[in-house]
Amino acid sequence: MIEAGILGTGSYLPDVVVTNQDMSGIVETSDEWITTRTGISERRLSSGEPTWFMGAVAARRAIAASGVDPKSIGLVLATTGTPDYFFPSLACIVQAEVGADDAFAFDVGAACSGFVYAYDIASKYIASGAVKYVLIVSAENISKLTNYADRSTCILFGDGAGAVVVGPGRGGVHSSYLRSDGKGGDVLVCRALPISHPFLDGTGRNPEGWDSGFQDRFPDLDDNYIRMDGQEVYKFAVRAVVESTQAVCAEAGIAVSEVDHFVMHQANMRILEAAARRLGVGMDRFVVHIGEMGNASSASIPICLDNMARDGRMKPGDKAVLAGFGAGLTYGAMLVTL
Ligand code: UT7
Repeated sequence: MIEAGILGTGSYLPDVVVTNQDMSGIVETSDEWITTRTGISERRLSSGEPTWFMGAVAARRAIAASGVDPKSIGLVLATTGTPDYFFPSLACIVQAEVGADDAFAFDVGAACSGFVYAYDIASKYIASGAVKYVLIVSAENISKLTNYADRSTCILFGDGAGAVVVGPGRGGVHSSYLRSDGKGGDVLVCRALPISHPFLDGTGRNPEGWDSGFQDRFPDLDDNYIRMDGQEVYKFAVRAVVESTQAVCAEAGIAVSEVDHFVMHQANMRILEAAARRLGVGMDRFVVHIGEMGNASSASIPICLDNMARDGRMKPGDKAVLAGFGAGLTYGAMLVTL
C-alpha cells in the first residue's frame, strides 16, 4: 500500500440553488423528466465566484482539516475544465492563496476524471519519496460552458469545488487503474478559442483539412458550449466504472463485496444504479449527492469525500473505490483505505 491516505477534505458550493422547477422556466422540461432520467433535483450555480476562489476556499478547508502545515506541501495539483485563466494554472493560483510556498504546482487535464488522475499522480510522487504531502483541488464553473438553451445538457451541470490533502499518517492507496480512449472522444466535446491573428489568410497547407473529426458528430461545433451524445456517454460511463472498479479490486486482491464505499463521479443516478447492479453490490454503499448538486465535473468526487467526512462515513480503515469517467474519453479508479 502506498502511504498516500486522505488526511483532510474540504469543499465549497455556491449559494445559488437552481431547482428543476427553475429549469422548466428556461427550457421545455419538467421536474418529473429530470428526476426520473437523472436523479437530479437541484444544482448549485456560481453567483459570480470564480473557479480559483471556490478552489481556494475548498483547499484551505482541506488543509485545516488535515492539520498539515501548508509549507510542508510539496505538490499542488488542480483539476478543472473551466479555469478563469489560460495561464497561470489554477494550481498556481491556489498555491499562492493557501501559502504552499515550497510546492510545485500544475493542472491535470482529464475532464471529469481529473480528481482520480490527480490522486494517482499524487500517490506516485509520494511513493517515489519526492514529496510528502500533496494538495489536490478540483474546482469547476461548468455553468460557463453550458448552453442554457439546450435542455439535454443544461439540466445536468452544477458548480462547486472539493479538495483533499493526501500523505502518510492515515490509510493509503492499494491500487489504481487509469485508461483513456482518445478515439471515442467525439461524444463529449467543448471547443476552445479559434485561431485568430492579423496574418490569417485561410489558405492552410493540409490537404486533409484541419477538422478534428468532432464536427462529423456535431456539425454546429462553432461556439464554446458543451456538446454531448448523452446515450453514448451513458453506455461508456457504466462500462468504464465497472471495468475500473473490477480492475482495482483484482489488482489489490480485494473482493468487490469487501469495499465499504463506492465514491463515483456524480453524472447521473441511473449510471450509479446500473454500476451497482453490474458489480453486485447494494446502493447503500454508494455515496450519492447528485440529487442536490448535479454534475460538478471533476469536483464531484472530492465534494462527496468531504460530505463523507462531515457525516461520519469517512471511517478510518474502511475501504473505498473512487471511480471517474469523462471527456477524452478518460476513466479510472483507485482503491484506497480511508
Ligand atoms: O460528466 C459528463 C458525463 N455525462 C454523462 O454521464 C451523461 C450521460 N447521459 C445521460 O445521463 C443521459 O443520456 C441524459 C440524461 C443526458 C439523457 O437521458 P436519455 O434517457 O438518454 O434521453 P435521450 O437523450 O434519449 O432523450 C430522450 C427524449 C428526447 O426526445 P425524443 O427525441 O424522444 O422526442 C429528448 O429530446 O428526451 C428529450 N429530452 C428532454 N425532455 C425533457 C432531452 N432532454 C430533455 C429534458 N427535458 N431536459
